[in-house]
Amino acid sequence: MSDRIRRLASYVRPHSVLYDLCCDHGYIGLTAWDQKPLAGLVFVDQSPNALRAVHEALKERQLTEDPRVQVITGLAENLQINGDSPCDFVMAGVGIRTIVTIIRELFPSGPGPHRLIICPEKNSLELRSFLQTQKLGVVAEDVVMEAERFREIIVLEEKGGPIHLLGEGYVGREDPHVQNFVKSLRAWHAAVTKKREARSAP
Ligand SMILES: C[S@@+](CC[C@H](N)C(=O)[O-])C[C@H]1O[C@@H](n2cnc3c(N)ncnc32)[C@H](O)[C@@H]1O
Repeated sequence: MSDRIRRLASYVRPHSVLYDLCCDHGYIGLTAWDQKPLAGLVFVDQSPNALRAVHEALKERQLTEDPRVQVITGLAENLQINGDSPCDFVMAGVGIRTIVTIIRELFPSGPGPHRLIICPEKNSLELRSFLQTQKLGVVAEDVVMEAERFREIIVLEEKGGPIHLLGEGYVGREDPHVQNFVKSLRAWHAAVTKKREARSAP
């Protein structure tokens, strides 16, 4: 199991209902289920093909008939969330646009008691700009390496701290990969800004 998956699962709150959105193989949900007690586990993916592996894994664990566990085939943004009990929503391994669509559709007036655990496929700068416009704050953020690429994890709740754009939240982190991530993010941002300024110059 990758460090990214283990780390994502570690941010799931014990006793919450976990929605593993865009779950594919379902490893994140299954890892969280193995790590801690959960009130429920819901796998969601648009692809019935992808969900076959989840059904197999549930069979192996004798969870097929467990009323706490559910598998939903469909778009995550069309999900109906019932009740006010705290749920954790993982959105990982998908693009920024998908994450923005899901957040807009599922949490139009903020997350309430829920937690969002996000790990976009690529650079999160655009996503963070969007998140700043929502009723959301950061409760944790982290960078992990997977297949030699930086993967950012952003954990959000209604009452979290400020959402920073250029790695300000990583100040004080000494892990070399986190420092390298911040360096590369700032270098990329400087290059993009320079290009934009050159384009708008008379
Ligand atoms: C690369 S996999 C990510 C798997 C896992 N979440 C991870 O991070 O390892 C992307 C999955 O997202 C699913 N997906 C993409 N957009 C979706 C949407 N709007 N609703 C539900 N599933 C979606 C795809 O079918 C695919 O199985």
